[in-house]
Amino acid sequence: MSAGLTEFAAAKLNLALHVTCRTADGYHQLDSLVCFAGAGDVVKLSPGPLRLEVDGPFADALCADADNLCLRAAEMAGADISIRLTKNLPVASGIGGGSADAAAVLRGLKRMGYPIPVNLGELGADIPVCLKSQPARMQGIGERLTMLPPLPRLHLVLVNPGLPLSTPQVFAALRSRNNPPLRDIPDFADFAELVDWLGHTRNDMEDAAVGILPVIGDVLVALTSCGAAFVRMSGSGATCFGLFDTAGQATQAAETLQRNGWWSVATELAQPPHCG
Ligand code: C5P
Repeated sequence: MSAGLTEFAAAKLNLALHVTCRTADGYHQLDSLVCFAGAGDVVKLSPGPLRLEVDGPFADALCADADNLCLRAAEMAGADISIRLTKNLPVASGIGGGSADAAAVLRGLKRMGYPIPVNLGELGADIPVCLKSQPARMQGIGERLTMLPPLPRLHLVLVNPGLPLSTPQVFAALRSRNNPPLRDIPDFADFAELVDWLGHTRNDMEDAAVGILPVIGDVLVALTSCGAAFVRMSGSGATCFGLFDTAGQATQAAETLQRNGWWSVATELAQPPHCG
């Protein structure tokens, strides 16, 4: 490798997340409409030895030890590289986080000629979809992907109340694990059609997460008060998103929500990555 390269690790959003059953191994079967936001972390790869440095607004919340998914991804690919991770997104927050970062490392390594490891799921259930970083229906425990046509333009606001939430803890708190799957996902003609379709879907983890962190309920109410056309929690939380009619409304909402001391950003859908 002669020079370094940069990969964007877009925030993953579960626009809809249905939990359809729990299997014998304790994992949950999911059915989810996933998309990626223009807000994200940044990964820079340069010649080794293998190491990880973290900077950015949420660097302190992250442990750069050998367990970090970025290092484990590089090791799995057999790559001796130096990784600089700029952590712009809150950690343990239901928007991909470590999985998006590790997937960005793997995309960068692919551009350098390294093969993508086959046993990706070992790193995390969200890694396959984060590798694609494009709209997809995600099923199974995350390994079954159906890529979707581009979604209508979205004016998104992401909000996190500043408290981490453990994914296993939220799964453990689910009251119902046998829920209906998603209806067929159409090729959405426009924003209104997407919002209408989402109105018939759920995030089956939302009630359990609100039970653990009631402030998530406050975030959802606040997003609605800011005029969002649709609001929901992403993944196992605590990050929530709102879909707005215009970019101006989204920007104003993000500024209002920041005044509560919450992390909030207005953004749109991510551009597709160089390779996935
Ligand atoms: O794979 P990931 O690190 O995202 O998952 C964290 C934990 O969440 C798993 O160890 C498992 O307890 C739970 N999980 C699950 N079903 C899934 C994905 C994750 O039960 N489909």
